[in-house]
Amino acid sequence: MSTIASRDTVGVSIRGASKFYGSFRALDTINLDVAPGEFVSILGPSGSGKTTLLGILGGFVQPTSGSILLGERDITFEPPHTRDIGIVFQNYALFPHMNVAENVTFPLRARRMPKSEWPGRLASALDMVELGGFGERKIHELSGGQRQRVALARAMIFEPRLILMDEPLSALDKQLRESMQIELKHLHRKLAATMIYVTHDQREALTMSDRVAVMNKGQLVQVDTPERLHDHPADSFVAGFIGEATLLPVRRVDDRSVELDGMRLISARPVQGDTDLLLAVHSEKLTIVDAAPGMTNVLCGVVTETLYQGESIRIFLELDRGARLSLRVPSNHQGRSQLKAPGERIAVAIHPDDTIVVPHVR
Ligand SMILES: Nc1ncnc2c1ncn2[C@@H]1O[C@H](COP(=O)(O)OP(=O)(O)OP(=O)(O)O)[C@@H](O)[C@H]1O
Ligand SMILES: [Mg+2]
Repeated sequence: MSTIASRDTVGVSIRGASKFYGSFRALDTINLDVAPGEFVSILGPSGSGKTTLLGILGGFVQPTSGSILLGERDITFEPPHTRDIGIVFQNYALFPHMNVAENVTFPLRARRMPKSEWPGRLASALDMVELGGFGERKIHELSGGQRQRVALARAMIFEPRLILMDEPLSALDKQLRESMQIELKHLHRKLAATMIYVTHDQREALTMSDRVAVMNKGQLVQVDTPERLHDHPADSFVAGFIGEATLLPVRRVDDRSVELDGMRLISARPVQGDTDLLLAVHSEKLTIVDAAPGMTNVLCGVVTETLYQGESIRIFLELDRGARLSLRVPSNHQGRSQLKAPGERIAVAIHPDDTIVVPHVR
């Protein structure tokens, strides 16, 4: 990787970008500033507009309104090949009639880089994605995961200052995906390039990113650090999309507490809004306690099911007035010793810091 040196990196700004397909609004007034060298993920369900947003950055989709700045430069109307942006497409987009080496060096050819530089760059790009020695292979002789890695090598070989990736790891199996996630993070550090990474996998977004931009129906709902998104979701869409949360209707008591199932829950943060509020309970944030009279932030209910899931055990609980939620205990000795059989009563505590109340969006 030593031949791919870092250099001045640039940020990117999306200013009020909208995209209509006929009367359908695929993107609605997107504003996003990505700092030089930052790793930002675009996270959202299928059809939320992630690929369209990436297309606008890459120059493959013309925004209906708004503008795109790469550093100081307005690139809204520039064609893709002059933008100095490396792209890994959702569907690889490799050239089937070329071998691996020809695919990976394609951007060098397109940019007329001196031929003497090609072998060194090719070798380090292929090493980077663990495909050293695969240069002569035909594309149809590769697995899906290997094709994806060829696409990664091709996007990075010319040291772009901005790299866009559209679900680059979705075709890989879990183990390879997780090792590639770490690999990509290392690459990001090494290349010092700005990265915008599309995924619909919230875990992947949280693992890899400096910040995550959550999209829903063509709109950016919240742009924040992984910790903030997880612990301070802006609304019920984000709360339901990030982590493993149960959303339960609650009644506001005052600006620091709500009522659920007849119990008062104190929140460490102000309760925003008056009506249509949901409590987002993350399953890892509940702890089984011995209930005592006068305790606050404790819910009581009956175990309906326990599921052994390897590293943890998920327990489903029905509260006295019918609300259902789940919690996780580690599958170690201590966790197992807390397990109760279905039908037995337990009490669970939720810390005020973890009492997250969000407005219900539909
Ligand atoms: N060329 C097009 N013409 C008409 N509608 C389009 C076009 N491209 C995308 N759309 C629509 O715009 C919306 C956003 O599509 P987009 O591909 O950006 O979603 P996505 O978030 O990338 O989804 P996925 O996770 O499934 O890849 C979808 O409803 C899609 O049907
Ligand atoms: Mg897409």
